[in-house]
Amino acid sequence: MKTLIKNAKVVTPAGIQETSVLIEGTRIADLDAATQTTADQVVDAGGKYLLPGVIDDQVHFREPGLTHKEDLAHASRACAKGGVTSFLEMPNTVPNTITQAALEAKLATASKSSLVNYGFYVGATTENVDVLQHATRTPGIKIFIGSSTGNLLVDEQAALEKIFAQSTLTICAHCEDETTVRANAAKYANETDIAFHSKVRDHEAAVIATKRAIDLAQRHNHRFHVLHVSTADEIELIQNGGPLITSEVCPHHLFFNVDDYPRLGSLVKMNPSVKTKTDNEQLWQALCDGIIDIVATDHAPHTMEEKREPYPKCPSGLPAVENYLALMLNQVNQGKCTIEQVAKWMCSGPAEIWNMKRKGRIEVGYDADLTLVDMDLTQTVLNENQETKCGWTPWHGDDVTGWPIATWVMGKQVFRISDGKSEFDDSRLGAEIEYTTG
Ligand code: DOR
Repeated sequence: MKTLIKNAKVVTPAGIQETSVLIEGTRIADLDAATQTTADQVVDAGGKYLLPGVIDDQVHFREPGLTHKEDLAHASRACAKGGVTSFLEMPNTVPNTITQAALEAKLATASKSSLVNYGFYVGATTENVDVLQHATRTPGIKIFIGSSTGNLLVDEQAALEKIFAQSTLTICAHCEDETTVRANAAKYANETDIAFHSKVRDHEAAVIATKRAIDLAQRHNHRFHVLHVSTADEIELIQNGGPLITSEVCPHHLFFNVDDYPRLGSLVKMNPSVKTKTDNEQLWQALCDGIIDIVATDHAPHTMEEKREPYPKCPSGLPAVENYLALMLNQVNQGKCTIEQVAKWMCSGPAEIWNMKRKGRIEVGYDADLTLVDMDLTQTVLNENQETKCGWTPWHGDDVTGWPIATWVMGKQVFRISDGKSEFDDSRLGAEIEYTTG
């Protein structure tokens, strides 16, 4: 099966080219194909931008065990709609993904239900270093150095030293210092205002844990990725971390801060917590300066009923996969960054960090994971239009300009907007992501 996407502004590693992309089977077969090239299907992109499919390296899709919040079928539709063609999912499901068998069970489930390409991290515990050493079919190891949703936590120094010393896969971590968070939680135990969440999970908690993890990585010469950087104070640590250290920021830490609690309440309760407007601005600058490498969502759905529980009981996390490319394209439209930067932060960057084979670029021989975006399309984000199973978004009511309008996964079109309506092809499934390591 051959598909020719013609008349597109193709975002390639060499810059933007007004040209065509020929897909043959699951791969990109040609760029700038000769005008007489024939194909089974010809798509006229109408001069719109064609990006590599987005790769979200931090999502919580809740399957198995928490499927009342989300599942792979809903979440992967949300991905397709949002231009996300590959995801890497976190181990805090039920059961936790802390054995090779649990990892392979997830891969098997995804092979039957995910519309987009999938990969799963293996979670660290104080006792499973042998699993971490021998894990295969995974991008890397996730450590909760501070606890969050679920019961995964590795806080003891000896256990952390052992994991960094004895494993070889890239490690990523949730960096909030458990001791600091617990002390703050005790101090503010009687507070019921949601804003205290940012005082419990404060700047110091993030800085202490990020510093500790970077120190471990450097002493053990281990590749390490800082998940969801939330404070300006961590930027210098990352900048001075050297080549072993990469990092990411999430849309909620770029676009929300403590001033949003009165309006959005627990909808913006997440771990790490939102910080200040100054943190937003400096994180954005660090991203533009190339200090922070990539943007990921930390898509972490909970039901609205759960979110309505009073603070502190309401759970932490928010959904974002279907809106984050659009939120970033909206920034391009506002002149805050370029579309090439977005492709680096959300496509080639994550593919390189996680050693993915043939992903993240529009280049001959790469997988045909693509998203066509309309930079002039304005849509209002609405709860009722969300594909995520939890059915809400903290961006409800926001007008956003720049949206994915068609998505291809491994050469097959899985999503398009037709006459203003979302259309999916649920019969088409994604593939397991391959890595040069693991
Ligand atoms: O807010 C969060 N929610 N942060 C995490 O690290 C976990 C996530 C979840 O799984 O709910």
